[in-house]
Amino acid sequence: MAEERRGGASLTLFGATGDLAKRMLFPSLLGLERDNLLPDNLRIFASGHSVHTQDGFRSMLQEVLAAPSNDAAMAKLLGRISYFSLDVTAPSAFAELAKSVAITEERTFYLSTSPKLYGAICAGLEAAGLVSPQSRVVLEKPIGHDTASSRAVNQAVGATFKEESIFRVDHYLGKETVQNLMALRFANTIFEPLWNARAIDHVQITVGETLGVEERWDYYDQYGALRDMVQNHILQLLCLVAMEPPARFDPDSVRNEKVKVLRSLKPILPSQMDHYTVRGQYAPGVSEGRSVAGYAEEGGKASQTETFVALRADIANWRWAGTPFFLRTGKRMPERRTEIVIQFKDAPHSIFQGVAGADLQPNQLIIRLQPQEEVSLRIMNKAPGLTEDGMNLRPLNLNLSLTEAFGQAEPRRRIAYERLILDALHANSTLFVRRDEVEAAWTWIDPIINAWKASGTSPKLYASGSWGPSGVFALMERMGRSWNE
Ligand code: BG6
Repeated sequence: MAEERRGGASLTLFGATGDLAKRMLFPSLLGLERDNLLPDNLRIFASGHSVHTQDGFRSMLQEVLAAPSNDAAMAKLLGRISYFSLDVTAPSAFAELAKSVAITEERTFYLSTSPKLYGAICAGLEAAGLVSPQSRVVLEKPIGHDTASSRAVNQAVGATFKEESIFRVDHYLGKETVQNLMALRFANTIFEPLWNARAIDHVQITVGETLGVEERWDYYDQYGALRDMVQNHILQLLCLVAMEPPARFDPDSVRNEKVKVLRSLKPILPSQMDHYTVRGQYAPGVSEGRSVAGYAEEGGKASQTETFVALRADIANWRWAGTPFFLRTGKRMPERRTEIVIQFKDAPHSIFQGVAGADLQPNQLIIRLQPQEEVSLRIMNKAPGLTEDGMNLRPLNLNLSLTEAFGQAEPRRRIAYERLILDALHANSTLFVRRDEVEAAWTWIDPIINAWKASGTSPKLYASGSWGPSGVFALMERMGRSWNE
């Protein structure tokens, strides 16, 4: 029986009973199964600390995925899965698993456990003889909590897998609109001549979430918004906005350009910290119509961890010198909104001066990722009609709604992880993060964290359901700009 199945591909998932697996990974696998995108011969080995029988694990999945019992895709997916209960730190842990994995030729290992275990898992896989040149490993974040610890994780994994076989996940890169940003920039010619500090006044990147931290409190409290969101997702968005056109859409061409951006980020000096950064922590308030507790109350203790951060980043290169990037993200914001705003410069001179209703507003290109995927361009227009004193001007948006445009062909909104799992199974690492990117991002983040710590100050409280502490508006005012509302 085993001999018959020799060959084919496998996906071995560590952390298969964890939160991410339940919320994202298995639903993504089911999505891929429904669309016939999983390789026919793919076997899935799910492993976790908890003890489950095969049937017990499958019924847990059935429940988590809320699939009806006669769902053919679900049945097919379950048919691929075998569950292994193992303690990855025990020397003999991999023996049972190895018997099954060894039968397959192309092996993808997906590590969705605590990163502390990554080294032990990789060493265990190697000792069990499971790592071949075709094997690859997918790593979930966080890769460390600063430069030194991220190097330690990278080194531990690098002792077993070569860099080309290491796929570091940043799930933002799997989002449709994020990939569309590359299409927008590099499949069109109209933007490139304007895509620089001569035409662009500033860029804003906002990731607002209405959710609080809730049951992830203990984890989150060690990280905070800067490490949890800025170091990875937001800096990746910044890279895609700011990078030079890569020669090709392949892993090294794209990542070479991104890492150049990260290395060009100007360090924020301790003396600039109060001017360039704002930290906040949510206090009680009203979120989506209901009263909610503050962060400290949720955790049952006082904390110095920020749940909101806003900062100014500058890229020291020819394209961007003089164009600041304003980044902000927070939990318990008034709305779920993820967007990139490219704000162009003011018109150098208005010929409409003195004309009523003729305030010129700068052009804005807004790339919205959430809640809707859309791209819009704000341009000034003449409002229709006659007036005695000339004409009224009004800003209007040229809108491109991806949801509407592709609504028929692509009725289901995909989970970002579907793209990433598919790419990992096909060994395409373009949308994964390379080691030098992770380390360059931490190198920029570390001094901010250190300066905050050294200042002995605490994050400012903001009411849940607001856009952060008042300092965030003052930051923009000092720079002569305002947040897009
Ligand atoms: C995760 C963070 O990486 O991204 C979470 O750890 C955050 O704190 C999440 O909520 C946001 O992702 P998305 O796709 O919901 O914007």
